[in-house]
Amino acid sequence: MFEKVEEYKKLLQDAKASTRDELEQFRMKFISKKSVVSELFNDFRNVPNEQKKAFGQALNELKNQAQEKFQTLVDALDSAGPDMSEVVDMTLPNIPGETGSIHPLTITRNKIIEIFERMGFNVASGPEIEEDFYNFTALNFPENHPAREMQDTFFIEKGPDKVLRTHTSNVQARLMEGNTPPFRSIMPGRVYRNEAISARAHCFFHQVEGLYVDKNVGFKDLKDTVYHFVRELFGADTKVRFRPSYFPFTEPSAEIDISCFICGGKGCNVCKGTTWVEIGGCGMVDPNVLKSCGIDPEEYTGFAFGMGIERITMLKYQINDLRLFSENDVRFLKQFEGTF
Ligand code: DAH
Repeated sequence: MFEKVEEYKKLLQDAKASTRDELEQFRMKFISKKSVVSELFNDFRNVPNEQKKAFGQALNELKNQAQEKFQTLVDALDSAGPDMSEVVDMTLPNIPGETGSIHPLTITRNKIIEIFERMGFNVASGPEIEEDFYNFTALNFPENHPAREMQDTFFIEKGPDKVLRTHTSNVQARLMEGNTPPFRSIMPGRVYRNEAISARAHCFFHQVEGLYVDKNVGFKDLKDTVYHFVRELFGADTKVRFRPSYFPFTEPSAEIDISCFICGGKGCNVCKGTTWVEIGGCGMVDPNVLKSCGIDPEEYTGFAFGMGIERITMLKYQINDLRLFSENDVRFLKQFEGTF
């Protein structure tokens, strides 16, 4: 027993710690509850009675010596400055994190912007929380139009009404109000509708609106613009069909269909055998809309269109479920990198 005490005292004298790790090893060995010193204290009861006093004294000396030595080692390390083995080398290159990929809807939106910018359109945007006036009234929606009902529209406030915009057409009104033509803008953005979520419908999606107002703008300008856009986006062989329709803010109005580029006119499940697929609506800006925005319809005319960005993306990539766009599964999203 006494020999052990002597042996440890010797070890203590020679002990060194040049790093924090070594200091910790010292602490474990001589100071902690599991240290060799604690072990000897546990052995105390096995020491014959006549030796207890002397052994107790020796043990206490050993314990004090260990603590003093520990403090000396701590002080030495502290005054030596930082342990270079633990200092972060700020000049090392970064460990790269995993990067995401561009979202397929962003790819489509950027491509649409690129095509229209080449035709002289600029990009405008407006709020997603919108006053009734810009979302409905200025766009010639009658007071009792079904889109104003709670079941279609998310209301934020009632009287005066504020809604989550149901389409990007609100930006048309904001763009024109208080400004003078010409206007030649596209307006991409997110829109909201109170719909049950399924493969074909969602409570939010994206549209791109277009507006061209100037002197002597006619339906032929609308057709030219849409033709050019469709051929740039879907390929030079794509045919376009204008199908008569109705929107409160355009007169006349049409639905834009393109020839189904998936089956090439044979009929498939995307075009449901019709050989045509719809990509949006369009028309000549209704004179009432121009008037609501302070523009003289006798002097200026214009056309407008609105297309679904999800719709175009789904057609382009043959994606069959709208929910995939907002589920954030990188395995789905990564597939479209570098395409278009
Ligand atoms: N706002 C319409 C919708 O959400 C789309 C639309 C149709 C926009 C015709 C237009 C247009 O600018 O001229 O269904």
